[in-house]
Amino acid sequence: MEHFQIAIDGPSGSGKSTLARSVAQKLGILYLDTGAMYRACGLYAVDNNVSTKDESAISELMDSIDIEIVFVNGAQKVFLNKADVTDRIRLPGISQAASDVSRFRIVRERMVDMQRQIAGEKNVVLDGRDIGSYVLPNADFKFFLTADIRERAKRRLEEMLSKGVHDMTIEEVMADLEYRDEQDSNRAFAPLKKTSDAIEIDTTANTPQETLLALLGCLPKSILENAHDKDIL
Ligand code: DC
Repeated sequence: MEHFQIAIDGPSGSGKSTLARSVAQKLGILYLDTGAMYRACGLYAVDNNVSTKDESAISELMDSIDIEIVFVNGAQKVFLNKADVTDRIRLPGISQAASDVSRFRIVRERMVDMQRQIAGEKNVVLDGRDIGSYVLPNADFKFFLTADIRERAKRRLEEMLSKGVHDMTIEEVMADLEYRDEQDSNRAFAPLKKTSDAIEIDTTANTPQETLLALLGCLPKSILENAHDKDIL
């Protein structure tokens, strides 16, 4: 297969980015984390003290936003009006801000244009909420990840602890995830959705390696034979 696209969708904490990163590494293809782009929009609103729920204020803000995605040795960096915000978009509070602003059509249209442009140039794996359903409806391979809410919250909490954030309980993380999933699944424009042609992988009881093998097992031999890292199965 000459040129191919892999779409990975699912709710927060289902393991999308870990999976997409390892797939990209194994196959030697580009990984685009689309959530990072909405996070940059959310951060811009927060930095400018604009309510992330105010559609007309956010629309106005979109006139002065410049988001650039740069890949350095395969690692994605995000620039917001020329400043590197790769780390700041992961700060607590920005997840919710990203979910809020991602509901608005103008924000999505701008980000989706960039995503399609990047995905059209190379073999890619994209992760997000609407990749298979809206951004790349003709993607060659579509996956939809799920996991129990408690397991997802546990993963998020571990991630936060590893970054030195110690001030949330598992119940609080669960409540945040539930709120965000609900908002992402019920927005009017391009909501989180499993398409009928997506392969569902429940990652609750899986190690990252098991989930990777489940995905690679769905790809044709022609792709696996051309993989960057041949030590696959
Ligand atoms: O994947 P993430 O947690 O970094 O995404 C942050 C928010 O961005 C998420 O709550 C919803 C939004 N998002 C989206 O609407 N569509 C995408 N393709 C990716 C993320």
